[in-house]
Amino acid sequence: MSQGSPKGKILIVDDFPASIKNLANKLEEDYFVITATSGAEALKLVNAESPDLILLDIMMPVMDGYELCRVLKKDAKFSTIPIIFVTARAEDADQAKGLALGAVDYLVKPVNAAIGKARIRTHLELRQHRAHLEKMVEERTGQLNKALKLLQAKKESEFRQAAEVHGGRLAALGEMATSMAHEINQPLNVISITVQGWQLLNRRGLLTTEKMLGDVQILLDNVSRISRLIDHVRTLGHPSQEICRFYLQDVLQDTLSLCRMQFLNHGITIDVDIDDNAPPVKAVQSEFEQVLLNLLSNSRYALVERKEEDDFFEPRVNICIYQQNDRVCLAIEDNGGGIDQMAEENIFDPFFTTKPAGQGTGLGLSISRQLIHKFNGELKMINKPGQGARFEISLPK
Ligand SMILES: Nc1ncnc2c1ncn2[C@@H]1O[C@H](COP(=O)(O)OP(=O)(O)OP(=O)(O)O)[C@@H](O)[C@H]1O
Ligand SMILES: [Mg+2]
Repeated sequence: MSQGSPKGKILIVDDFPASIKNLANKLEEDYFVITATSGAEALKLVNAESPDLILLDIMMPVMDGYELCRVLKKDAKFSTIPIIFVTARAEDADQAKGLALGAVDYLVKPVNAAIGKARIRTHLELRQHRAHLEKMVEERTGQLNKALKLLQAKKESEFRQAAEVHGGRLAALGEMATSMAHEINQPLNVISITVQGWQLLNRRGLLTTEKMLGDVQILLDNVSRISRLIDHVRTLGHPSQEICRFYLQDVLQDTLSLCRMQFLNHGITIDVDIDDNAPPVKAVQSEFEQVLLNLLSNSRYALVERKEEDDFFEPRVNICIYQQNDRVCLAIEDNGGGIDQMAEENIFDPFFTTKPAGQGTGLGLSISRQLIHKFNGELKMINKPGQGARFEISLPK
């Protein structure tokens, strides 16, 4: 049924007002009736009111019923509205012509109320069923397309992994380069977004020295992150990074200060819940920070994607630090829709990504898991398909 009219909206078109009145009287109790006395008026009403069914007289001056039926059936917007011809003519040839033009039925004047209502009800029900079926087909097609994309991603990931094994050293170098590009990309993004923010404020005459001075530290931090990464490349093969004791909450604050802007820019709320008694852990601080950045960047991506589909969606990330038995844990949970069940088993595979070509390396989670394992910890994913994803890091106390 059309919106706002649960009863069903019927348009009666007849150039003879007495005929309209007669028919309308019989239907008004059960339907919301609108009327037109010419083809042109009917076209306007169809446009403005989207009726659920049209009762159409054949003999009308200027544009007769056949012509109006032809026009409506040609227009994709209106072609699914069932048309029943109502006419004094009862010739077989006329009926055949009307049906050939796409009408669903034929009523002969004077219309018998019970028969007319029964036919109208049948055609309205048929239309509803058809709309329902079309919606189901559309939904299934969407699901199939999504499944197909995932299968492609899985295949590509398997193919790349196989290529890596066979390609030996060259592939390993390629992986390292891609991984570095991936890690450098994050601080570069922060720098670029901060500067773009300045440009925007400047254009509106709102850029102040205080704002710039406030942001300079963010820029410096990110520049030094990039230079640290470049140092990593230089020292790769000579792993000399220091393992030390640090508090997860301190690294979390540092990491958030790097990427909080990117979240705020997308209207994402970040909630943090910290157990202040959580003891320190033993790991390489910069690498742990990298893991947090990877997880946060994944959540941000999922949330922004969902927000683009639904304006009313309220994107949210919850981060908590807590103790569990002999471990200190940090969990990042978002409400970005979670991971498709088909992809669950693959997300930690190197190079597995569902992002469009060129946007994701698919290394974020595999590198993160490797790093956490190196510190005798665990990185687990708890999926709530359709709702969100939770990633839990646990490290020995
Ligand atoms: N929070 C999340 N919500 C939904 N899907 C996620 C989330 N985190 C990861 N994923 C899924 O796991 C896949 C792999 O993530 P990973 O971080 O390894 O690579 P990526 O994000 O695709 O690429 P990159 O990290 O280089 O940007 C993602 O493509 C996405 O499909
Ligand atoms: Mg990622």
